[in-house]
Amino acid sequence: MKILLDEKALHDGVAGMARQIELAYEGRHLTIVGVLTGSVVLMADLIRLIQLPMRVGVIQASSYRGATTERGDLIINSELMIDISNRDVLLVDDIFDTGHTLTRVIEKMHEFEPSSIRSAVLLKKEGRVEVDYTPDFAAFDIPDEFVVGYGLDYEDMYRNLPYLAALEQNDLEEHAALSMNQR
Ligand code: IMP
Ligand code: MG
Repeated sequence: MKILLDEKALHDGVAGMARQIELAYEGRHLTIVGVLTGSVVLMADLIRLIQLPMRVGVIQASSYRGATTERGDLIINSELMIDISNRDVLLVDDIFDTGHTLTRVIEKMHEFEPSSIRSAVLLKKEGRVEVDYTPDFAAFDIPDEFVVGYGLDYEDMYRNLPYLAALEQNDLEEHAALSMNQR
């Protein structure tokens, strides 16, 4: 795998985004909602870096897609989410790629009538956006490559890598052989 961002770079980028969020919400209470599952590692770091009174919750979005496949049906499950009505909500996700996931989740959250919704992502992929929306906060812009680690997965693996890496062709072959043996 080709490492794009090591642990130190990730930490510095996330800390910088935490400062921007603090400035934007100065003197206010925040409700942070993480999109499962990709945001779990970012959430753990980000919420400890933001020095503001906050409530923390989650929402689930899942779609069927791999490294090469296109976006499938998106399923949004808000049953586990905390009450966000009349709250300033910051939605947190791992990556803004085409933008369909984040915009659909935001649409869903509006049903619960928050007073505001902004969004923060670890990564924004260059040249991929297909929607009329930009995340309010993004720690890094990355080239159009399929990446894993720091919460991001390929077939639900590699989320635990402490760095961000691009999957290359030989990694995909290794992954296929490995998954075959583990079933
Ligand atoms: P979007 O709807 O195209 O913006 O895709 C967003 C979702 O697709 C993210 O929440 C990820 O779960 C997944 N995704 C997009 N690009 C990557 C990637 O490079 N690695 C891992 N997951 C990705
Ligand atoms: Mg994902």
